[in-house]
Amino acid sequence: MLPTVIIGAQWGDEGKGKIVDLLAKNSDIVVRFNGGNNAGHTVVVKSERFPLSLLPSGVLQKKKLFISQGVVIAPDVLLSEIDFFKKRGVEVDLLIDRRSNIIMPYHRWLDAATEASKGDKKVGSLKLGIGYCYEDRNNRHGIRFEDLINPKILKVKLEIEFELVKKRLESVYNFKVDLKLGQIYKEYKTYGLKLKKYIGDVSWEVYKSLGLRKIIFEGAHGTFLDGNFGTYPYTTAVNTISGSVFSYVGFPPQKLNVLGIVKAYTTRVGSGPFPAELNDDTGTFLQERGKEIGTVSKRKRRCGWLDMVMLKYANRLNGFDCLALTKLDVLTGLPFIKIVTSYQCGGKLTEDFPSSLTELEKCKPIFKSLPGWHDTISGIKRYQNLPKNCRLYIETIEKLLKVPVKYISVGAERSEIIIK
Ligand code: GDP
Ligand code: IMO
Ligand code: MG
Repeated sequence: MLPTVIIGAQWGDEGKGKIVDLLAKNSDIVVRFNGGNNAGHTVVVKSERFPLSLLPSGVLQKKKLFISQGVVIAPDVLLSEIDFFKKRGVEVDLLIDRRSNIIMPYHRWLDAATEASKGDKKVGSLKLGIGYCYEDRNNRHGIRFEDLINPKILKVKLEIEFELVKKRLESVYNFKVDLKLGQIYKEYKTYGLKLKKYIGDVSWEVYKSLGLRKIIFEGAHGTFLDGNFGTYPYTTAVNTISGSVFSYVGFPPQKLNVLGIVKAYTTRVGSGPFPAELNDDTGTFLQERGKEIGTVSKRKRRCGWLDMVMLKYANRLNGFDCLALTKLDVLTGLPFIKIVTSYQCGGKLTEDFPSSLTELEKCKPIFKSLPGWHDTISGIKRYQNLPKNCRLYIETIEKLLKVPVKYISVGAERSEIIIK
């Protein structure tokens, strides 16, 4: 019984939430292992939309939910997600690793202040304090979940951190801090008391369950947002590739089933190079038909064709065993569909994604064009019933990537899925 790790193969928003919800049905435990509430995952069941950013997307299947230490937690956001389900009669079965770090208000202020100072070089951060919470965590300044639930320790740690960060914000960024230490302490102490019952050791619980229970590890964001291997610095501040699951959860390296989630075209939110981007009517078509608006940021997502150079790199980093291809229905009606097969970089043709951002910025995409299809595909349940050109598109991706497509998502609804 291999655990499955779910990874976004592009710049996030591939439809991971929908696929986690689907697979959770036949699983016992869903573990969210990275990122924070900058992630936004939407699950749609019987026309009702369930937006999630911290609770694992297995919540609607009423599974055991774990949040591992790789996740940074905004306690107010987590509490409101828990409340949202409570009001619908779902009592979440949640365990949060005591080592997880807590996002404090000053992390958000630092995010806002540094983004403002970067001008046109800004990352396009959601300014939710994710990067600064990881900075504190990595530099051992963090307030961990076990500190949050202990008012005495919380007070001591907060007193040290708040004074330091206040000085930094006011003197370096000229940022006016108008919250008092006492107010923050009072608010966070209350969050801690409310969340206390969920504390545990996720690493140990996962370890005990390996081989006995079916586990899904839910990765947030996407491969190209990986803080080291993505389009740095236009990335998030955490690792998003499959191998990071071992250290973010805390269990030994072993064979996992790696499921890559690939949107049938490419989108990205925020700044940074995007070779396959379409700044034309087709780009607008994908944005509007695909309802490509950030779940959390509410920003329009930039859109472009599917990029095989990116996907080959994603496959090299993650080792996909199979893929879920999502939002294929969005392409219906286009007369032709293009796929990026290589880049023209400084007079050279390459199929390798550049490791240098400066080089990537100069790359021009080279396309292969495929015929489109016209009949709607959202109600289709069997692969063979998909239009011929639609199957050709899927099989071209499989051939170019040498990875099988196992799931085909043809609509936002939980039921709109084909298993190949
Ligand atoms: P995630 O961050 O990877 O979980 O993806 P998001 O939830 O942020 O964005 C994906 C969006 O597309 C959500 O609004 C989903 O409801 C929607 N979606 C998922 N799969 C499909 C699909 O196959 N077709 C369509 N039209 N929408 C989909
Ligand atoms: P899901 O899990 C899309 C992007 C932001 C921004 C950059 C840095 O829904 O796929 P940060 O707030 O981390 O400082 O932002 O990363 N970003 C995402 N884009 N989907 C996500 O997650 C993202 N998480 C971060 O838009 O450009
Ligand atoms: Mg999302």
